[in-house]
Amino acid sequence: MDRSDAGRRDFRPGRLSRKNHRRRQMRMAPDLRRVLGIEIPILSSPLGGASGPELVAAVSNAGGYGVIPLWGDPADKVRDGIRRTRELTNRNFAVNLNMSLDYREALQTCIEERVHAVSFFWGHDAGAIATAKEADLVVLSSVGSAAEARMAQEAGADIIVAQGYEAGGHVWGQVSTMALIPAVSDAVDVPILAAGGIADGRGMAAAMMLGAAGVWVGTRFLASHEAEMHETFRARVIAATETDTEWHAELYDGHWPKAPHRTLKNPTSEAWRDAGRPPPGDRPGENEVIGTRPGGAEILRYEC
Ligand SMILES: Cc1cc2nc3c(=O)[nH]c(=O)nc-3n(C[C@H](O)[C@H](O)[C@H](O)COP(=O)(O)O)c2cc1C
Repeated sequence: MDRSDAGRRDFRPGRLSRKNHRRRQMRMAPDLRRVLGIEIPILSSPLGGASGPELVAAVSNAGGYGVIPLWGDPADKVRDGIRRTRELTNRNFAVNLNMSLDYREALQTCIEERVHAVSFFWGHDAGAIATAKEADLVVLSSVGSAAEARMAQEAGADIIVAQGYEAGGHVWGQVSTMALIPAVSDAVDVPILAAGGIADGRGMAAAMMLGAAGVWVGTRFLASHEAEMHETFRARVIAATETDTEWHAELYDGHWPKAPHRTLKNPTSEAWRDAGRPPPGDRPGENEVIGTRPGGAEILRYEC
């Protein structure tokens, strides 16, 4: 047998050596659907400013699992977000908290309200995971590498969210979803959710072939009626093609500096590029008011 034949035999689908088969059996991850109490392994990811109680409840009611971002809010607003979601669904959902901000009061509120799960993103804090586990909450931990996934599993996370570089919004890691999911899948024994660039059944099937137990879908849900979105933005998301996004290390840094993000290309980023990519303080139109939020608060250019 020459070398090419040997290679072909090793890669024949469906054939595992007895040793590998035993190893795979020993490492069987807990079933994602059982851990979350769901029928369909699709989660609507937290979308700051866009996924409120309506979207989260609609996804959970449909048999998936909604995740509501309630970070940066005082305890009474966190409690209100949880209760408003509960008015719309009696199914499970998770609360998303940002590890780069002080999350302790919000986590305590989640524990008091006995939410089903918390989702931690933007950093690793073993203490937060331990606190949530002691209170019997399911813990989802977002990571951008296999090493971070191992740390989260060791700290007690029940589910790993592996977020690839394709992801919309703030992007923690720099590894593509295609490369990240198999690496994380080899690194941990808990169920993995694939995030980044998944928008339909084809993407979901591909992610599951790579080792994910389910998917964590963001941008696709921005297009849904239940998302709290301005119609112009919704239309732009729907019309966008695969070449219409761009990644920036810190362009939209108002409110949250030094947090890389993927956005749609737009006149603000074009003007900034045309001006030679100046640093914060020297950017075109800085501090200009470009709109208002539903409550009336002004939105400044470069705010995220
Ligand atoms: C508008 C928007 C807001 C987001 N806000 C959050 C957030 O508050 N918390 C979080 O963990 N992830 C946030 N993300 C990231 C998503 O949870 C998810 O990882 C990402 O959308 C997955 O990639 P996809 O958009 O290609 O589906 C946001 C994404 C978008 C598009």
